[in-house]
Amino acid sequence: MASNVEQPEAPHKNFDTILVLDFGSQYTHLITRRLREINVLAELLPCTTKLADLPFKPKGIILSGGPYSVYEKDAPHVDPAFFELPNTPVLGVCYGLQELAWRLSPENVVAGTEREYGQADVTAQRHGGHVDKLFDGLEDAMQVYMSHGDRLSQLPEGFCTIATTTNSPYAGIAHKEKNIYGIQFHPEVTHTPKGKDLLRNFAVKICGAKQNWSMSNFCDQEIARIRNLIGPTAQVIGAVSGGVDSTVGAKLLKNAIGDRFHAVLIDNGVMRHNECQQVKETLAKHLGISLTVVDASERFLGALKGVEDSEKKRKIIGGLFIDLFEEEAIRIEKEAENTPNAGKVEWFLQGTLYPDVIESISFKGPSATIKTHHNVGGLPQRMIDGQGLKLIEPLRELFKDEVRALGRELGIHEDLIMRHPFPGPGIAIRIIGEVTPERVRIARQADHIYVSMIREAGLYNKISQAYAGLDTNKAVGVMGDKRYEGYIIILRAVVTTDFMTAEPYPFSMEFLCELSRRIVNEVEGISLVTYNVTSKPPGTIELQ
Ligand code: XMP
Repeated sequence: MASNVEQPEAPHKNFDTILVLDFGSQYTHLITRRLREINVLAELLPCTTKLADLPFKPKGIILSGGPYSVYEKDAPHVDPAFFELPNTPVLGVCYGLQELAWRLSPENVVAGTEREYGQADVTAQRHGGHVDKLFDGLEDAMQVYMSHGDRLSQLPEGFCTIATTTNSPYAGIAHKEKNIYGIQFHPEVTHTPKGKDLLRNFAVKICGAKQNWSMSNFCDQEIARIRNLIGPTAQVIGAVSGGVDSTVGAKLLKNAIGDRFHAVLIDNGVMRHNECQQVKETLAKHLGISLTVVDASERFLGALKGVEDSEKKRKIIGGLFIDLFEEEAIRIEKEAENTPNAGKVEWFLQGTLYPDVIESISFKGPSATIKTHHNVGGLPQRMIDGQGLKLIEPLRELFKDEVRALGRELGIHEDLIMRHPFPGPGIAIRIIGEVTPERVRIARQADHIYVSMIREAGLYNKISQAYAGLDTNKAVGVMGDKRYEGYIIILRAVVTTDFMTAEPYPFSMEFLCELSRRIVNEVEGISLVTYNVTSKPPGTIELQ
């Protein structure tokens, strides 16, 4: 991450924060999610974070699960200073439990020979006093999800057992005097149905965190923070595509600094049917944002001529996008020279979300699963360095559903909030092979019919992403009793929560047949329509 990214300090000043130290479990981010769902701000940091470097004082600390054994040579360990923080309860989850028991004495933990996965039934053990707080209000018998290798061999000194299973006498432990708790199971996953209540007990009843994290509270504070940060004269530019992230970011900036925020949409010639015009009108009408559309379609289509490889297409589109954005930044500054808005373009709005931040801060390093091509639309280092631009990332603390809630708070129309994601390289990566104006026309028209029919059938919000793509090959068809060759359309519609895995949407055969009939009849040049039923993995959402 660039050094001139403005780190937000505000949330921790205004909201009690539970610190989640990540030991690398695939579920860690869910702990953060669950706490935020109960309106408690939670922040995830790598387990290697030193207390001395922590930029805020947490209300409580959760040590996450992880794939390691505490006995492994490279096993990560927490800074022991965290246990000494006054009035700061600690909850160890799975590996976190073993870590805290192992710190007290290595004899407390035995290395497991194999991992224990799956559902288990725990029974809460009540003693009277503060140790009961974690299971407060919960039934004695509770279904939970286990996934662990090491296990406790004995009760650490000063602790008592607060939960057991038939296999594990130490499924939950609590210190008899201090607010230190540990559980062997994962409360953050949905396979532990009462897990959220348990996390609420920890955050609210044990740590005393206020449940005030909400987008209505965040909204006003964030606008004030942005205004303060940017000051009275600086200008900000941002690429606005009409997607929910860029729209919410733009509206925050507009509310904070008015016309000193410049929203720009670069028409790369591979946008959807009427898209640029519609986004411009919607932003002006509903949000009072004047969007500058830079029509560069000829430049893009010219550069894409003869290019078949999808990664090359991405690079060409990304590179040109940057060139055009640089030109636009210079133009904005010049135009503002003799107006009340005169001021340097100092900032660039970027729609980074919390999952991107989590991926990049993991102690294991940036996740290998992030595709660099997903960053098309972000500002390159060369532009930040060259023009001294600073990044402003008002959404970097938020998950996607929080961005949507914030959008509603800002009065953004539901159609924009629930809009399916659209890739930066647009239709170009939905056309297999060369991108010609003719092939863009065919894909675009078919896509328009498809998505309109999905909307009319009331299915749009049940589907996460849908589009019509185009194959390179042609198929033989019959039209007016004559043989002709036309293109093959590949329809895609998926349901997903995180876009990392996805399932095809189960349209009825009747709906698919009607789609095919309309597309073949209404779009010149198509002879065959197919529906892609591949899950992700092994497929991907886009065709390329
Ligand atoms: P895949 O195809 O990797 O897509 O399953 C997952 C999500 O990422 C989007 N996607 C992109 N977004 N530039 C983008 O801005 C890209 O090059 C790109 N490729 C894929 C895709 O639309 C889906 O939401």
